[in-house]
Amino acid sequence: MKKEYSKYFAPSLINARKRMNKNIENRIFHIPDELIGLGNNLKYHIKTYGCQGNLSDSEKIAGILEMLGFRFANNVTEADLILFNTCAIRENAEERVFGELGRIKSLKKTNPNLILGVCGCMPQEEKTVETIKKKHPQVDIVFGTHNIYKLPEYLSDAFLKREKVVEVYSNEGSIIEEMPVKREHSCKAWVDIMYGCDEFCTYCIVPYTRGRERSRQPEDILREVETLVDEGYAEITLLGQNVNAYGKDLNCEYKFADLLNDLSKTKIKRIRFTTSHPKDLDDETIQVMARRGNIMPHLHLPVQSGSNTILKKMNRKYTKEEYLEKINKLRKAIPDISLTTDIIVGFPGETEEDFKETLDLVTKAGFEGAYTFIFSPREGTPASKYEDNITSEVKKERLLILNKLINDGFAAGNKRFEGKIVDVLVEGTSDKKEDIMTGYTIHNKLVNFPGDLELVGKIVKVKIEKAYTWHLKGKLIES
Ligand code: 5AD
Ligand code: SF4
Repeated sequence: MKKEYSKYFAPSLINARKRMNKNIENRIFHIPDELIGLGNNLKYHIKTYGCQGNLSDSEKIAGILEMLGFRFANNVTEADLILFNTCAIRENAEERVFGELGRIKSLKKTNPNLILGVCGCMPQEEKTVETIKKKHPQVDIVFGTHNIYKLPEYLSDAFLKREKVVEVYSNEGSIIEEMPVKREHSCKAWVDIMYGCDEFCTYCIVPYTRGRERSRQPEDILREVETLVDEGYAEITLLGQNVNAYGKDLNCEYKFADLLNDLSKTKIKRIRFTTSHPKDLDDETIQVMARRGNIMPHLHLPVQSGSNTILKKMNRKYTKEEYLEKINKLRKAIPDISLTTDIIVGFPGETEEDFKETLDLVTKAGFEGAYTFIFSPREGTPASKYEDNITSEVKKERLLILNKLINDGFAAGNKRFEGKIVDVLVEGTSDKKEDIMTGYTIHNKLVNFPGDLELVGKIVKVKIEKAYTWHLKGKLIES
């Protein structure tokens, strides 16, 4: 008999807003002794979609799997367990997952013991679970963003009892500390500092799929970073949907600027953080950034639109002028800072005038890169009910025009380093050529240069010879 664990809940606007981030307890991850060894002689493969939050979660999932005895399979055809860690932010991200799930179905014919799982943000939407049940019965395990720590139990039921598992929590529950992590990179690491988002931008599904803001305790974050230093990591990226809101739920005076300041005193060589919300980026944080040290002079500051009408409809809580003012402050404090952003075009009701305001803001802000998107209505969010009066041709045309401007900024941002000597944290070989090494500068610019594998993990000096739109090419000066 196949068992279904539990009820799942729709990401209801009313419930999501009513949910509280009080009484969040911190618990220590634990695998029951009898489950250790469950994955011996079995291989896993994880397909990760979406943001850095998902990349970080996949590293935890991999950590748990390896602790259970599973080993990594390079290819889905060798795997006994395939997990899809999904993203719900736009419709095309979801379509890709469903397409891939369809294609992978045939693997069950060659390996009848194969277990397929879907996790991440998509299962946090009720409609996804329904669609999986109706159209993808080949899926054995479904779980969400709040219950990764229960994976050992789900796998025991799926592998040992051959039971189907569907468990998605609508409440965020505890913060689980000391989860095992199998990190993708050998020299740079994600560090979650908080989970969830309280902003409820009207287009965004994240507050429903990831729940309310919950900050990790500062001492747990510091301990993780100190361990990373001991393990030889050079760079950390602090993660949260709105890192600038860090600490608000901890009911103490400790804020993001304090955390950044404390982390800057550790021996980690590079600190980055993402994502920042312009409304919450405060003067204290800018001051800590300006002291520089190991805090990198790059900031990803999503603006979303340059039109005050649209910003209001998006519930972003700042105006174009306030955003530009914040950028001015940043540039005054950190003159060489590199700024990148996110922009949505074709938000319901966006007029030609509104779009021109966005282009104007992009010109004035001097972004050196941006992720640009066409608005995608997400069921359950307020904006999905707004009248969408823009044709898809107009949306695509606006995206093209915007991208052209953004690419010019990208190229100009790279050009400023031509002839300069930059510090590069070497990550590995470039995809195409084995004798070409690749890495990032302090300003988050991608650099390729001739070198060898011994340099991986080191910060080296490279003289930039030529700037291209997407990367810089240089020559090793000093290692
Ligand atoms: N449609 C299009 N883009 C979106 N984003 C978030 N929700 C949507 C949506 N419904 C974009 C925002 C955000 C980035 C991670 O994804 O620009 O900053
Ligand atoms: Fe979504 Fe807005 Fe929260 Fe970012 S700040 S995750 S865009 S709701």
